[in-house]
Amino acid sequence: MSLNKYYTLGNTGLRVSRLALGTMTFGMEWGWGADRDNAFKLFNTYVDAGGNFLDTADLYTNGTSETWLGEFIKERNLRDKMVVATKFTFNGEAGNPNAGGNGRKNILRAIEGSLKRLNTDYIDLYILHVWDGFTPPEEVMRTLDDLVRSGKVRHIGLSNVPGWYASRAQTIAEFRGYEPISALQLEYSLVERSIEHELIPLGTRYGMGIMVWSPLASGLLSGKYKPSEEWVSGEGRLAAMKGTNNPAFQKFTERNWKIISQLEVVAKKVDRSMAQVALNWIANKPGVASVIVGATKIHQLEDNLKALDFELPEELGWSLEEVSKPDIPYPYSFFQQSIQGMLYGGATVGSKPSGYFPMIETSGSGAGVNVDDNQK
Ligand SMILES: NC(=O)c1ccc[n+]([C@@H]2O[C@H](COP(=O)([O-])OP(=O)(O)OC[C@H]3O[C@@H](n4cnc5c(N)ncnc54)[C@H](OP(=O)(O)O)[C@@H]3O)[C@@H](O)[C@H]2O)c1
Repeated sequence: MSLNKYYTLGNTGLRVSRLALGTMTFGMEWGWGADRDNAFKLFNTYVDAGGNFLDTADLYTNGTSETWLGEFIKERNLRDKMVVATKFTFNGEAGNPNAGGNGRKNILRAIEGSLKRLNTDYIDLYILHVWDGFTPPEEVMRTLDDLVRSGKVRHIGLSNVPGWYASRAQTIAEFRGYEPISALQLEYSLVERSIEHELIPLGTRYGMGIMVWSPLASGLLSGKYKPSEEWVSGEGRLAAMKGTNNPAFQKFTERNWKIISQLEVVAKKVDRSMAQVALNWIANKPGVASVIVGATKIHQLEDNLKALDFELPEELGWSLEEVSKPDIPYPYSFFQQSIQGMLYGGATVGSKPSGYFPMIETSGSGAGVNVDDNQK
């Protein structure tokens, strides 16, 4: 199975599975998760298939996700083998503005809670969950660097941030000798490709591996939701979250139904589930270091874990590329051929020859284990 093929994450020497396990569904608090028995089965299915990359956050299911993950890791005695990513930013204490956000006071508070719940003395990848609109990157980067130096954190990442903010943060790290950002955790799927304009080029150039969240658009790309004249049928998170104003759950659009129709055609042609095709397609996009798969049921996870066991024929991949192409807003519209062609006096300027950016490939580091480099 493709899970025991490990890639180095971004600019680090940390080896992670191309499919990470998302644990946002560990716990019933949000109304669309898995109970403890089921969550333990999901965990076991993933690690027994060779997976080593686990994603959680301090406030997923009000802390249950981290707590159960810590218990499962302990029960299987896997702390050393697992790469654990968790996040801070959201506020779980009404009336206390410093129990959330990205200021130093909250980061230093939040990490202690995560270490306790996860029952560990270090986090492999500590991620800022969402830009808070205020805290300067200087404060965030210095605080995260302190955590790395203290031994509580191994590597750092950013999630849900503007490109300019991530770029500024990485530059500060570079020029002040702080720990650099190694991962950008972002929503990316056939129906949500906005990060291709700014954040993917940033990640690929400056050493930040993209960790994809909601690769199935919260289950939409499994094909189980069907449009009807009245509304939408199908059971799962998107139905449970009907009516919410969370942008991550606004998925029932004409554009998305078109993408799903083509996905269904492709899945039939390659005799794979729609979920596997959608995961395969996104995992093979430039810059993607790891795709975080989520599930509430074992059969879903078993389905998803087969997503990298096949190659999508080029023309079928292109048909998905075409149908899901994002609009190109300004200024990105100026980086297309129609304008760029005016820059070089009519001379043909090709892209850089492949291999222009150093690419290191290693292989065969032990029985059944391949280590590749994801710096595409
Ligand atoms: N950084 C962030 O802001 C952020 C945000 C969101 C998620 N994440 C991370 O990314 C992980 C994955 O995100 P996600 O859960 O939104 O991923 P997703 O793959 O888009 O959605 C997963 C959900 O889709 C349904 N599903 C999955 N596989 C299926 C299959 N084969 N057939 C039918 N239904 C299937 C299940 O929900 P139902 O059974 O309810 O339909 C499952 O819980 C999370 O666990 C979390 O670790 C991070």
